[in-house]
Amino acid sequence: MAAKAGTSEKAATTRSKTTKAGRTKEVSSAKPAAEQRQKRAKTAVSKVAARASTRQRRTASDEKGLIDLLEHALRDMYYAERKIYRALPKMIKAADDDELAAALTSHREETATHIEALEASFEAMGLRAKGEKCDAIDGILDEATGILEDFGGTLAGDAAIIFSARAVEHYEICRYSAMVGFADALGLDEVHKHLQGVLDQEMAADAKMVALAEGSINEAASEYDEDDSDPAPDPGMAAAKTGAKKA
Ligand SMILES: [Fe+2]
Ligand SMILES: [Fe+2]
Repeated sequence: MAAKAGTSEKAATTRSKTTKAGRTKEVSSAKPAAEQRQKRAKTAVSKVAARASTRQRRTASDEKGLIDLLEHALRDMYYAERKIYRALPKMIKAADDDELAAALTSHREETATHIEALEASFEAMGLRAKGEKCDAIDGILDEATGILEDFGGTLAGDAAIIFSARAVEHYEICRYSAMVGFADALGLDEVHKHLQGVLDQEMAADAKMVALAEGSINEAASEYDEDDSDPAPDPGMAAAKTGAKKA
């Protein structure tokens, strides 16, 4: 990695990158100028649009780029968000704490707008909105169902719901934060705006879950330990208390 000469406060760096096709190119860390970003966005969008209209099949030798990864990510999240929207009522119904039920209900309403934001992002890229099976969210939601079966209706029921909801939120946060970076690098400003808006709401939803857990729900779930004042006597301790000596 070599430092690039420049007058900016934070010096840009360049590094050589060899593509799969064997070409070597210099990649700079400097943010491209607005004009260059617009050109990049136009090229990226026309690339996916051409593929979509001709239904051109990619071959193994095709070199996929960031625009293809963003398209995949949009499909992945389109599948995930619709699945989350359908899964939330079960959690809302099981929630005992009114504030938790209200927070989940409000986030379900936001989830409907996330689906719309993804549809708007597809449209901005000239693509038809389409989901693609996401094994990660299927696994997280399957696990949430199992946890609810195990803990639903118990003292730790609400804590368990938050435990699962936060796994969902963190999955969404890691995906959307990556996608925001992709849209930024590709100069897709409208897509960037939609995804950033969703990311902000996911982070706020996670913060709300933390506040509820730490505010009262974990405390209420731990009451069992405090009330359990009649544990089975430890023979060793009993002997020590009465001054009896162990054999
Ligand atoms: Fe979401
Ligand atoms: Fe979410």
